Amino acid sequence: MRALIAGNWKMNGLGEDAKALAEGLKGLAEGGQPACDLLVCPPFPYLGLVAQTLAGSRIAVGGQDCHGATSGAHTGDTAAPMLRDIGCTYVIVGHSERRADHGETDAQVRAKAEVALAAGLVPIVCVGETEKERNAEQTLAVIARQVKGSVPAGMEAGRLVVAYEPVWAIGTGRTATPADVVQVHAEIRRLLVGLVGEGSEKVRILYGGSVKPDNARELLSQANVDGALVGGASLDAESFWAIAESA
Ligand code: PGA
Repeated sequence: MRALIAGNWKMNGLGEDAKALAEGLKGLAEGGQPACDLLVCPPFPYLGLVAQTLAGSRIAVGGQDCHGATSGAHTGDTAAPMLRDIGCTYVIVGHSERRADHGETDAQVRAKAEVALAAGLVPIVCVGETEKERNAEQTLAVIARQVKGSVPAGMEAGRLVVAYEPVWAIGTGRTATPADVVQVHAEIRRLLVGLVGEGSEKVRILYGGSVKPDNARELLSQANVDGALVGGASLDAESFWAIAESA
């Protein structure tokens, strides 16, 4: 399966940084593109700027979140059709930082994924256990609960991405071992058979959590690892590119 390498810029940088990063990526893409799909998810105020900068390149642009309704009285929120309208093709939903900072539940994440799909976006549904849950040997139970609760059932496999991001590995420099990643990704694949049915093997399952140029190749070569969701290392064009080249 063709890998997806996605950069999650989170709440970093100002307009000039977003433009410089997008220009840097566009320049690298002009020199030839790695054999994977590429996506960047900038902060909301700079989505339009980045989408314009990357227009004509093969680097897709996505939102970091959307609301579970398509429009209405939701001050400060962003609707999936708005993201589509300004040129996004993907949206991250249920990132652990949103689950923690905004108390998002599995049901809310599923609603977001559903409106994203209806708007023509590919949702990247994030799941992952905390360190406490891992230490209590609850990892697979937590993943099963989140996948079953957050992934819309019966959706078209090619239009769904799931990202496994152990919370304790995000931004910490620690990554899950290849054996852990293989075990959790195999479990997600098994759960998707029940949820998506036919074609579930086409759902891309990304790994996220301190992916860097020096560990990307090993992580990306594991079974059922179909790409990466990259935070910190996606803020530097060269390091994001190096990760993409190892896919
Ligand atoms: P990190 O973030 O690569 O900085 O660990 C990954 C993510 O949260 O998507």
